[in-house]
Amino acid sequence: MPLLKPMLVVWGLSLNATAFAAAQIQLDSSSQGAVINKNIYGQFAEHLGRGIYEGLWVGPDSSIPNTKGWRNDVLGALKALHVPLIRWPGGCFADEYHWRDGIGPRDKRPVKVNTNWGGVEEDNAVGTHEFFDLVELLGAEAYVNGNLGTGTPQEMAEWLEYMTAEGKSTLAELRRKNGREQPFKVHYFAVGNEAWGCGGNMTPEFYTHLYKQYTTFLKTPTHNTPKWIASGGHSEDTSWAEYLTTNVKQKMDAVSFHYYTLPTGKWEQKGAALQFPEAEWASTMQRTLAMDGFIRNNKAVMDKLDPQKKVGFYVDEWGTWYDVEKGENPGFLYQQNSLRDAVVAALNFHIFHQHADRVRMTNIAQMVNVLQAMILTDKEKMLLTPTYHTYRMYVPFQDATAVPLKLSGVPEYRVAGISVPAISATAARTKNGELYLGLVNLNPNQSETTEISLAGIAIESVSGQLLTANQMDAHNTFEKPHAIEPTAFRAEGKNGRLTIELPAKSVLVVKVQ
Ligand code: AHR
Repeated sequence: MPLLKPMLVVWGLSLNATAFAAAQIQLDSSSQGAVINKNIYGQFAEHLGRGIYEGLWVGPDSSIPNTKGWRNDVLGALKALHVPLIRWPGGCFADEYHWRDGIGPRDKRPVKVNTNWGGVEEDNAVGTHEFFDLVELLGAEAYVNGNLGTGTPQEMAEWLEYMTAEGKSTLAELRRKNGREQPFKVHYFAVGNEAWGCGGNMTPEFYTHLYKQYTTFLKTPTHNTPKWIASGGHSEDTSWAEYLTTNVKQKMDAVSFHYYTLPTGKWEQKGAALQFPEAEWASTMQRTLAMDGFIRNNKAVMDKLDPQKKVGFYVDEWGTWYDVEKGENPGFLYQQNSLRDAVVAALNFHIFHQHADRVRMTNIAQMVNVLQAMILTDKEKMLLTPTYHTYRMYVPFQDATAVPLKLSGVPEYRVAGISVPAISATAARTKNGELYLGLVNLNPNQSETTEISLAGIAIESVSGQLLTANQMDAHNTFEKPHAIEPTAFRAEGKNGRLTIELPAKSVLVVKVQ
């Protein structure tokens, strides 16, 4: 039996009592949007706080069950997210990272100071080989971020040779001596990070010169050539994308972009992760939706200079950034994660899907224990955050093709002088032909009625998962790790249409049948 029955939908005939007030979501399954690159669901793991050490890596001798030093509980949870790629080793850390510190016997590696993040000791237990173990254990791709800030072109070139050389070069032999016969597969390689800030306080002009100089010397076997990523701008600044796209004509597959959502918009006092006022829920939503404008502006610039869209726009750092929790090392960026973060994640996904023609990679900051994390750990304990659950719910969108949709009659959510549309929606068809719909109601106070229609096709039912809770800051703790989790959701169509009552502050992903 076909999943979807063709039928004639006559507007206005099948309205029920609630439909007059309902927002309309019209899916246009006859036309196709861009493919939603699975890399939009990428992750970022930096040598920062307990992100790698403890959160992911406990070492092979730990009493915490692990595989090659990587903790099994965290690996198991991450596998369910189908993590497409991991960016490593930073972030700001990358521009002070010297790869030779992280190879060879672990007990002989130098101990450095992590000057960016808390001034703690970095014993280099996790280096190149360990990182590739993680990537391979998760079936992900490797995104290695090179050191432009304090490294030389020679150091960067030699790291790539160490990872990818096949012959008998000294560096290839050194890699073999360290336990890896075959070259590592480097899928993505970035030349520096945040060159405008912690990466060297450069101007776009100065960085562009350096980018061209460094990339001249970055050479790999042709079948193991990574996509080259230039460090781009942030927030409303389009000058980096513009300058780089104008002036770099080779060896640049993407320009990166960073944007963090701060509830107040102020770095000195960002806002709390929990127990925040409703005004900060609203400002967080508003500042999240600003991502759309930032991407549009950068795309407008790039579309003029690169109409064939050869160069990608990679949002390789994004997420919420709150005030540090009391009692935590301020340099560790550890924060709790609530229903608000789940809604922020879903809104960002919807924006990225809309711009998937140019936005072919994004990496949330960061994977474990840092900023908007998927997972929090406390020694041997682990919990899954609401953001984790959102990532899991959106797995079907990886590599699916966006289905254009029209939203109308969407009510505004208004509070404290802020006004944002209450509903956000996205739709896509998977390679298997299944149609998925993602919906967000960001109004924390009232449910919203949405009526879904699919041009000329009857919707029999939708089924999937709903994430919501009573409190805006509902979250999981080590004592109550299942306080907020998705629940099963199902709704039946009537006369070819389907009405969904979307609970307040909720994220819903359903398969349309
Ligand atoms: O994700 C934390 C930090 O934020 C990264 O190291 C840096 O690139 C950004 O400023």
